[in-house]
Amino acid sequence: MTAGEGNEGIRGRRHPLRRFVHRTLLLRLAAAALALAAVTSATVALLERNRVSGDAVAHALGRADRFHALHGELYADPARVDASALRDALLAFRGNLEKISLGDFVAFRLWRPDGTPLTEIYLEANGTAPEVRAAVAGWTAPRPGDGKARGEAMRVGGKPHLRIVLPIRDPAGNALGVADALFAFSPETIRAFRSDGLRAGLWIALAVLLTAAFIYPVVLHLTGRVVDFSVRLLDANMDTLETLGNAIAQRDSDTDAHNYRVTLLSARIGEEMGLPAAEMRTLIKGAFLHDVGKIGIPDRVLLKPGRLDAAEFELMKTHVEHGREILGRSAWLQDALNVVLYHHETVAGKGYPRGVAGEEIPLTARIFAVADVFDALTSKRPYKNPFSFGQAMEILEEGRGTHFDPKVLDVFARIAGPLYERLERSDAVPREELSGIMRTWFRDEMESLEY
Ligand SMILES: [Fe+2]
Repeated sequence: MTAGEGNEGIRGRRHPLRRFVHRTLLLRLAAAALALAAVTSATVALLERNRVSGDAVAHALGRADRFHALHGELYADPARVDASALRDALLAFRGNLEKISLGDFVAFRLWRPDGTPLTEIYLEANGTAPEVRAAVAGWTAPRPGDGKARGEAMRVGGKPHLRIVLPIRDPAGNALGVADALFAFSPETIRAFRSDGLRAGLWIALAVLLTAAFIYPVVLHLTGRVVDFSVRLLDANMDTLETLGNAIAQRDSDTDAHNYRVTLLSARIGEEMGLPAAEMRTLIKGAFLHDVGKIGIPDRVLLKPGRLDAAEFELMKTHVEHGREILGRSAWLQDALNVVLYHHETVAGKGYPRGVAGEEIPLTARIFAVADVFDALTSKRPYKNPFSFGQAMEILEEGRGTHFDPKVLDVFARIAGPLYERLERSDAVPREELSGIMRTWFRDEMESLEY
């Protein structure tokens, strides 16, 4: 797999990330339209009710002024108020009033300045009389406040009403009491402020959707460019990964085939073990670059046909540390260090460079160790012929629990046969399979761009 091939699935215009962006954008715009419509409807309905309430309060205030002008003498002296006469006067006064389209007053209660009730009147016309009586009976004396009329929204019998408090004063400004009125909005008014809200909400939703329809192609285009750019960056990173790994592999071998094989073997074990995506990427990067530090090993040691002597072997071991130095400079390759630094450790703690044991060795490195040794055993080297599949598996088994993690060996034993058959067929097989594997696991990384 070179720069130009194998990555089309990631680079392609129909990359899943594009579809994801497309879908997300549509969903978010639709959600925004709905949310704005809902908020607008509620706000308009509330504003409309406040406006209507204001009208009702003003209306009540006007009526109170007229009543006061006509019958003010009935309560001019709070100590000698004739409640019955006042009640009759209120009823007569109300009977003479023209109905207003907003709604109607359905109950009155008059309070003395000391907060004791003076009289109350119920108008039975609106069919909610029992609820009205219950609501008014529950009222406590209102505070005279600053002398201005005020309204308080409330629900009576499940319908919107307004309690209007009107302080009553004589011309000299002395408090004569408080008139408390319950105003029921007419069904037409209730329908009107509901339908006004709904209509406003629909208009807003339409406006948002229209705006979204205009900006959608622009956002999609810009997002698409960011996605393309990111995909190209990922491609470039992956090309670098392969180029670097292959350059090293070709230094001590005729081909880079070993690199592809061990990466494929490792990835298949990792998949079989159910490694999460981030671990899979670590494993793939680490497998490709496991021996990157060999760039620092002199040819006389690296290319020596026979076995290394003790001093040469010590020198060879330093390739792990060289690997750390090389990868330490790349943020994107940091995670590969888990494999690079530990790929010569053994589970019994007899490996190098640190001699760590068991689970102190990252799982990715324990997986890679099995793949690496299996491939070395089944490959031809200048100093040996390849072992057969059966022999190689036996040798791995001998290292169970000392060199290799038994869990990894068990998984490898399950999948090794068919994998080996495919690898034997041609060097192209691991490249092709690996191209699919990289698409799968690195595409996830692309999709994490969404966050
Ligand atoms: Fe190595």
